[in-house]
Amino acid sequence: MTHDVIIVGSGAAGLTAALALAEKLKVLVLAKGELTGGSTAWAQGGIAAVLDAGDTFEEHIRDTMVAGAGLNRIETVEFVIERAPHAIDRLVELGVPFNTEGEHLHLTREGGHSHRRIVHVNDATGWAVQSALLKAAQDNPNVTLLPNRACIDLITGRHEAERYSGSGRVWGVYALNEATGKVEAHTARATILATGGAGRVYQFSTAPRGATGDGIAMAWRAGCRVSNMEMMQFHPTCLYNLEVKNFLITEAVRGEGGHLLNPKTGHRYMPDYDERAELAPRDVVARANDSEIKRDGLDYVHLDISHQPADFVKQHFPNIYEKLIGLGIDMTTQPIPVVPAQHYTCGGVLIDLAGRTDLPGLYAAGECTESGLHGANRLASNSLLECFVFGDAAAADILARWDSFEAPPPVRPWDESRVTDSDEEVIIKQNWTEIRRFMWNYVGIVRTTKRLERAKHRIQMLTDEVEEYYSHFRVSTDLIELRNLLQCAELIVRSALARHESRGLHYTLDYPNLAKVARDTVLVP
Ligand code: FAD
Ligand code: SIN
Repeated sequence: MTHDVIIVGSGAAGLTAALALAEKLKVLVLAKGELTGGSTAWAQGGIAAVLDAGDTFEEHIRDTMVAGAGLNRIETVEFVIERAPHAIDRLVELGVPFNTEGEHLHLTREGGHSHRRIVHVNDATGWAVQSALLKAAQDNPNVTLLPNRACIDLITGRHEAERYSGSGRVWGVYALNEATGKVEAHTARATILATGGAGRVYQFSTAPRGATGDGIAMAWRAGCRVSNMEMMQFHPTCLYNLEVKNFLITEAVRGEGGHLLNPKTGHRYMPDYDERAELAPRDVVARANDSEIKRDGLDYVHLDISHQPADFVKQHFPNIYEKLIGLGIDMTTQPIPVVPAQHYTCGGVLIDLAGRTDLPGLYAAGECTESGLHGANRLASNSLLECFVFGDAAAADILARWDSFEAPPPVRPWDESRVTDSDEEVIIKQNWTEIRRFMWNYVGIVRTTKRLERAKHRIQMLTDEVEEYYSHFRVSTDLIELRNLLQCAELIVRSALARHESRGLHYTLDYPNLAKVARDTVLVP
């Protein structure tokens, strides 16, 4: 099937681009599983924007650069932050019911921000944003939404049927129809990847099940550079619970006065680690939590906001309160057991300010990219913002250059002639679990070269096994994801081994100091 533009992903980045393009073009949006399956729907804290009278762009830019440990690209930081108020206005127009205080939007606070500047919808901002964008897309006759399509690979000049160019020009995607089990070829003049992060490469992650780095792996296989993949963000406060594995306790709990306590001693330890205490950037707080847990052999640390009035807590965090009450924890009177968990992929497909990748016809936006905004560590609530700004930027560039985009040529259908149905699904489960476990243990919050080398060795062994399996058996979503997880693990480890310093999220005992010059880790396929 041919459309004007294909967008892979129906989260904040994908739907923002779709709505902007649909003013003039026919857009197809593909999503793995349900349309609400990405991280966007799970976002809690909010969206950062300079809206307070006492706040300035300069301060938001400075906070972003400080959190990013100087690895950010200043032109990107300025580009995004200056567009934030406009992005919020548009969401208000779409009907996102942000919390208000009198006539103004209510602004909460999160770590690393020198001002209150986070707009939010209680503690479930993502769900409100996802619902508003999806409703607008569903109501738009120029947008076709196709859920249950797991994209496998990009269609390029190597898949042209009649006149083979072998070029890197991207013409669309091969996608598994998860309902029929058949692989479809979808072609277009331009393609945007908005596939989210790779958090599920780690055993403990706040990210949803589908965050398997598919877009990053697809772009890499097709010939795009990827950058800063070692910069994996760990959120300091994921709920510790044996039943519920990946429930986030928003940073806004600390923003509204929550303290981190050592459960053995009751000591409030963050002031010992950083003068900003609980509101230090995430890398600092996550390492402090990890250090307390490892030093004292703890299962978790405590996050305590019970000193605030009960009504204040319930009013600010109604969803978290309800969730915890269901698990027998009353956060108005008790501390919450928390652990660090993978949360955000700062690295990804390298893009410019127009969302262009290295390949003609291919754009990318959102968490699957490395735009230069986050540097070595993302500032809280800057990522939804990045999705809106770059979703728009990619759409604007496509519209501006539309006349130069040729119609896609006929492409080869997916070749299934040499594969059979799998008789050993257990291999997928086994490898998936193994990758996530060694990535957590060897490529986590604190790294060493020896542990990274161990991970590299395991990745090499698994790659042969997974590639052999992939070439013999019919694809399934699990297999597509396993292949991409392994590819992302390889990119993360390779990048981590290449960085001989500790900067932001990459902390290694073998190179504990900061290098004089901040350099991106750019991998070339
Ligand atoms: P996503 O929203 O993750 O969407 C990815 C889309 O790609 C999905 O539709 C998925 O189905 C699709 N997809 C993936 N692979 C394929 C494939 N192979 N084929 C077809 N489709 C595919 N950020 C903030 O700024 N503020 C917050 O308060 C905040 N809170 C967060 C809380 C949690 C629990 C988590 C996990 C993240 C949070 N973040 C927050 C980060 C933020 O939510 C994400 O960075 C952002 O939503 C990513 O949006 P996206 O559009 O890039 O991707
Ligand atoms: C949170 O609410 O703590 C998450 C915010 C973010 O990831 O930006």
